[in-house]
Amino acid sequence: MNTKMTELLGIQHPIMQGGMQHFAVPKLAAAVSNAGGLGTINSTIYPEPELLRAAIRETRSMTEKPFCVNISMLPEANAGDQTAKYFEICAEEGVAAIESAGRNPVEYLPIIAGTGIKLIHKVPSVKLAKKAEQIGADMVSVVGLEAAGHPGMDEVGTFVLGNLAARSVSIPVILGGGVADGRSMAAALALGAQGVVMGTAMLLSEESPLHGDIKAALTQAGEKDTILIQKSIRNMLRAFKNQRSTRVWEVENAYHPTFKELFPLISGSATKEALTAGDAQAAIIALGQSVGLVDEVVPVAELVERVMADAQEEIRRLGALL
Ligand SMILES: Cc1cc2nc3c(=O)[nH]c(=O)nc-3n(C[C@H](O)[C@H](O)[C@H](O)COP(=O)(O)O)c2cc1C
Repeated sequence: MNTKMTELLGIQHPIMQGGMQHFAVPKLAAAVSNAGGLGTINSTIYPEPELLRAAIRETRSMTEKPFCVNISMLPEANAGDQTAKYFEICAEEGVAAIESAGRNPVEYLPIIAGTGIKLIHKVPSVKLAKKAEQIGADMVSVVGLEAAGHPGMDEVGTFVLGNLAARSVSIPVILGGGVADGRSMAAALALGAQGVVMGTAMLLSEESPLHGDIKAALTQAGEKDTILIQKSIRNMLRAFKNQRSTRVWEVENAYHPTFKELFPLISGSATKEALTAGDAQAAIIALGQSVGLVDEVVPVAELVERVMADAQEEIRRLGALL
């Protein structure tokens, strides 16, 4: 399938793996790129910028295909802002693409000017998609309310947001938030997207480093098993609805805690411990509603192949209606 996204990135399939804190590691990224999509490693896993360089090299040792580095610039993501350093390392290592997220990356763009690196800026609204085009992003990834992680505070679903975004900008839109199979991929293309970004489905793939017990629990989860938390601190997160996220929701709704008050409940270290132990109830795990579409753990190559085959089948089926 040839789209502006595949052409710009030199990849086979218009599928991008979302940057996923903790989980977007070299092994997963390389598997996605080897499957013909765009794999992504997440800079925020590497508090020491040089570790990001090592991760880029590790990914390259596993794939010759293009891959991306997600640089999330959300307030909680970086202890001390390493963003400029991350951009510099990407430029030096010559990665194919950077996906920036969380705030406007314009001040870092001179660092990658002339390197050939494609900038994909991730946004949750039409307004910010236009802004991404204006600052010179090559593509914009747009995620609707269904998405894992940080959908926009405007709470607009993928169906309306993707449609409006694709009409509003002339750079390619990579649409996400609820895309996990061929049908949703075909729908995204019908809305005007040039490709899709998938997080939840990739999190549950065989190569994802999520603990096997948690993967097993999540494949049993349905579309109603996610919850929106951290609205009170204006850092809204869609996560797996479990004991911990429900507790956060309860505290937020009982009174308006400050970030400091909420921190012990949402801190990364508690989540890290639970993730390592395979405790699906004690970790805050970003998760999208598309978890309801995923009921088995399969290798990334099989996932990508299935999504592409089913999307083509859906497009043919729709064509035959005419
Ligand atoms: C566990 C997990 C962690 C995530 N962490 C990040 C992150 O650190 N930065 C980011 O830009 N997006 C993050 N995301 C969002 C994904 O990159 C992607 O936008 C989203 O998952 C797409 O929607 P979907 O989950 O419906 O496929 C995360 C997603 C998951 C599942």
